[in-house]
Amino acid sequence: MHVAPLTGLLALGHVHRDPGHSTPGLANCLALQHSLHLENTTILDVSYHPSPSTVACQGTCQTTANTSAPFCRVQFKTTTSSMSGFTAEAWLPDEWYGRFMSVGNGGLNGCIQYDRLDQGTTLHFATVSSNDGHDGDTAVTFLNNPQVQSDFSHRAVHIQSALGKQIVNQYYGRPHHHSYYVGCSSGGRQGTQAALLHPNDYDGIVAGACALDFNHLLIKAARMARAIGAPNPASSPSYIPLTSWQYVTKEILAQCDALDGIVDGIVSDPDACNFNTERLLCTPVDVATKTPCFTRDQITALNVVYTPTYAPDGTQWYPRFNPTAERAPLVAFSLSGAFPAYASDWMRYMVLNSSATYDASTFGLNEAILMDKVWGDNLATFSGDSHAFNARGGKFIAFHGTADPVVMPGIAKRMYNLVSSTMSMAPSALDSFYRLFMIPSMEHCNGGYKAADEFGQYAVATNKNTTKTHIILAIVDWVEGGNAPDVIVGTMADGVTTRDHCKYPATSMWDAKQAKFVCV
Ligand SMILES: *[C@@H]1O[C@H](CO)[C@@H](O)[C@H](O)[C@H]1NC(C)=O
Ligand SMILES: *[C@@H]1O[C@H](CO)[C@@H](O)[C@H](O)[C@H]1NC(C)=O
Ligand SMILES: *[C@@H]1O[C@H](CO)[C@@H](O)[C@H](O)[C@H]1NC(C)=O
Ligand SMILES: *[C@@H]1O[C@H](CO)[C@@H](O)[C@H](O)[C@H]1NC(C)=O
Repeated sequence: MHVAPLTGLLALGHVHRDPGHSTPGLANCLALQHSLHLENTTILDVSYHPSPSTVACQGTCQTTANTSAPFCRVQFKTTTSSMSGFTAEAWLPDEWYGRFMSVGNGGLNGCIQYDRLDQGTTLHFATVSSNDGHDGDTAVTFLNNPQVQSDFSHRAVHIQSALGKQIVNQYYGRPHHHSYYVGCSSGGRQGTQAALLHPNDYDGIVAGACALDFNHLLIKAARMARAIGAPNPASSPSYIPLTSWQYVTKEILAQCDALDGIVDGIVSDPDACNFNTERLLCTPVDVATKTPCFTRDQITALNVVYTPTYAPDGTQWYPRFNPTAERAPLVAFSLSGAFPAYASDWMRYMVLNSSATYDASTFGLNEAILMDKVWGDNLATFSGDSHAFNARGGKFIAFHGTADPVVMPGIAKRMYNLVSSTMSMAPSALDSFYRLFMIPSMEHCNGGYKAADEFGQYAVATNKNTTKTHIILAIVDWVEGGNAPDVIVGTMADGVTTRDHCKYPATSMWDAKQAKFVCV
């Protein structure tokens, strides 16, 4: 990845190296093996990578990773209690601009995020990632181990950052001047936890597709799967084959495509779409002419998917699955009718506290009620008090694709509104430290039909190096330059077409006169 153009912008606030201090490079890097003394920590290996290469990975998630910028690699292992710990890596670029970055995880993992380490060092951040207290995408180590649960909830990221900052200080001979966090999905949840529970860790946080209110998200996912027929979907009368969801999308577009002012195959704000599933019900003519249509049982399943899930007392457990989020390619993740592995893991190791295989046919309201009660050291992540983070001057950018089939997009708005009501701050006031951008038609963290889904959030190469088009540059400019982003400009897969992503509560509407989407 060629990144020279980013230099100008990121150099903002760059502190020039004091010649009296140590310089990065081979000798000083390798010396860390013996000179680093960090609490509860063993240095596993230190290596120096002067040019782009491929390195072997720690853990079970991936075997090799590509690297781009010259850097020093520190691999370490830290105990967090007598029954828990994590492995982590700090990647320290030769050309360091004084910034620290911590990155999060995803799903139930368990995986050092090598692509994010590479992105961070490429952008001249000293970057740290850990396995979040366990290896792999599973909850098996959560069983009867509240310490491992704490690491997954918030502690591993907190400690990896504290240690990473010490490594930075020692290697470069001076402390970082600003610290950042970047993550998506569970990584977005972890970024939210950092703001709520460890408000002093970061000056700026970018949190995407946050898997907030986590246990209720699992209830929603499990309920959808059961509605479609889990654990034996193919023999269930409500089963909807993967190939049939395209007809649902077609009907959604027939009902709602025009709502954003243009018929273009996407629904920019699915919350405005009151999708009426009845129109998909088979008529005798449909049946006679073999027109794709849905049985009453299938319509019932669709209604579970496209409406929120409620607790018995009528409070909302989780927002609905958004119309158009059933679009390929991630549809199989949520709507195949298979009971989600992460929900059965959660039932076994967190809720029932048993390693016995989970029988998903038993999942009903009683199991949802049990799930509702198990939090594991704040793991749910759904509270609105960000006073401390705001008071220390922290800045928070959240984003969420409106066609995310993994984490229902409505949760991003619920969180925004929860913070707003908890802190008694209207959006105009929240703007001073917390901004949410809904990304039309984007799937989970990136991707999505006709979505302008590239804005620097992922470890993808991007030549769009402005604060408007690159969300990491946007947070740096907000924190260090005082320039808050009003829109995030995304670029489509063609590398050319752009779209303004709007700051919630504004929504994206087609303006025929200007022939572009505008925020209203
Ligand atoms: C962005 O990149 C262009 C070259 O592609 C360069 O001319 C410009 O200075 C860069 N801008 C910033 C702010 O880094
Ligand atoms: C490393 O880069 C090569 C060449 O671009 C690519 O084929 C491979 O998938 C990359 N590996 C990883 C783990 O990203
Ligand atoms: C080191 O571990 C002990 C117990 O395992 C813990 O009490 C202490 O807080 C840890 N120190 C740090 C810096 O995390
Ligand atoms: C399993 O353990 C959690 C505490 O981690 C507890 O809240 C829950 O009630 C336990 N479940 C059962 C079935 O005992």
